[in-house]
Amino acid sequence: MKSTASSTGKPDLTRRKFLRNTAITGTALSYTKLAAHAATAPPGASDTLNVALVGCGSQGGILKGASLRIPGIKFVAVCDLWDVKARTMSRAIGADVKAYETMDEMLKAHPEIDCVLIAAPDWLHAPFTRKALEAGKAVYCEKMMSNSLEAAADMVRSQRETGHLLQIGHQRRSNPRYQFMRNRLLREKNLLGQITHLYGQWNRSVKMPFEPKPGTGIPQEKLTANGYPDMFQYTNWRSYKKFGGGVISDLGAHQIDIFNWLLGTTPRSMIASGGVDYFKNLPLQSGGSFSYEQLDNAVVVYEYDVPVYSGGVQVMEGDKPKTQLVRAMYQVLTTNGSQNYYEKVMGVEGTIVISEQPVYNQVYREKDTTGEKVGTWEQLARTGFLRKPPATVYNKFWERPKAWNIPDKWLAREGTQDVRVSIPADPYELPAMPKEMDEKPPHQFHLENFYNTVRARGKQTDLNCPVTEAYKCAVSVLKINEAVATGKRIDFQPSDFVVA
Ligand SMILES: NC(=O)c1ccc[n+]([C@@H]2O[C@H](COP(=O)([O-])OP(=O)(O)OC[C@H]3O[C@@H](n4cnc5c(N)ncnc54)[C@H](O)[C@@H]3O)[C@@H](O)[C@H]2O)c1
Repeated sequence: MKSTASSTGKPDLTRRKFLRNTAITGTALSYTKLAAHAATAPPGASDTLNVALVGCGSQGGILKGASLRIPGIKFVAVCDLWDVKARTMSRAIGADVKAYETMDEMLKAHPEIDCVLIAAPDWLHAPFTRKALEAGKAVYCEKMMSNSLEAAADMVRSQRETGHLLQIGHQRRSNPRYQFMRNRLLREKNLLGQITHLYGQWNRSVKMPFEPKPGTGIPQEKLTANGYPDMFQYTNWRSYKKFGGGVISDLGAHQIDIFNWLLGTTPRSMIASGGVDYFKNLPLQSGGSFSYEQLDNAVVVYEYDVPVYSGGVQVMEGDKPKTQLVRAMYQVLTTNGSQNYYEKVMGVEGTIVISEQPVYNQVYREKDTTGEKVGTWEQLARTGFLRKPPATVYNKFWERPKAWNIPDKWLAREGTQDVRVSIPADPYELPAMPKEMDEKPPHQFHLENFYNTVRARGKQTDLNCPVTEAYKCAVSVLKINEAVATGKRIDFQPSDFVVA
């Protein structure tokens, strides 16, 4: 890193100054304040960071694109076992970016690298992270940490041993809309009252695997030497046990991580049902058939004991913190794309639906028997914490957004339609983000948090997703396989989420 040292010998960009730029974790930041930060060039933007990318597939391209939007980020090298991918990526970034087939060659040739971004298949995350950390680099490694808990634990240990920064790519944690929801609406304003349930889903339509043309891709000898049986498993690595964790880890990890992050704790138990129910013995266009090894769908229920706070202070019962039970349901499908992906927070006073896709963001106020909450919510809408949707849009939370004005006669009215029907909730929306923030791709915020922490010589705890936090997600997710295989409820101990 080309550092800007002050006369004291310390970087003149203080840790706190940097972290203010993107660490939107404080309780007193609003979108307006965030916009002010976004409008100013990040402190230290002239402080060049030399970056290398490992894994030049789809996500490598996303990380590259988001990083290049950040001032001061300079890619010096990329690496991919598939030489065409590495060369294509290096050309796309710039003529001076060198392409390599192995990380060893790359690290040896470029001692000037400050940061390594890892977007290779999950099974390589742990060994690649250790290698980069041991070479003295700061690492941003994509989620899922790994397809095995032992390897995920090794990532925690390699960070601890080397002391270098390691951020895991659960990017929702840095998303200003998610932070606004958690810090301002839920924690500061207690908008939903007592939270009783969370729900999350990622429903995806059937997508058949990529079928590499025979004779194309990586020569078989090189594949075998690198642990892959053939190009089919190489390109469809996610669904094979040796290489990936299937959809619960590919898709579910994002959202289950948000359960833990929102509730500020880890689950006490979990039950799950799932299987390889669709992607088995399916014909290939090239002849023959294939079956996936990892679950292609799952439904999971977690139970959490969530600490109770009053006025920001933890409530005690005797010498133990008082807790409330929250159930969190999660579903991932690969056979039906209904309503796509989102997370939902449900409290006795309302609901927030949030997704990385802004169109799914909705807020609903439950029926208000006292009339007090109506005024509170209207006041929040007037002061920019919420907004009212246009009167004609009663429900855009559907397969596709559309104005959907339900005729009055079909709206449930207390006592008129059916005693079992709830009174329709009052619709609101999350406030829009300022344009300059709205234009940033979702991963940019998380990368900014990483790069700014590197520049500020920050600590692991300054990262929005330090490896120890991501490990809690890895345990919550990878244990689903055990719950499905045994059909038994898993009871967690707090120590299960910590690497000794
Ligand atoms: N955060 C997110 O939103 C998000 C989204 C998608 C993927 N991901 C994660 O990113 C990672 C990559 O996923 P993807 O969709 O880009 O997969 P991909 O298959 O498109 O890309 C993986 C790349 O790694 C390369 N590779 C394989 N073995 C290698 C080796 N030994 N050395 C170097 N390169 C090697 C492949 O040639 C390929 O180019 C995964 O961990 C995935 O979970 C994260």
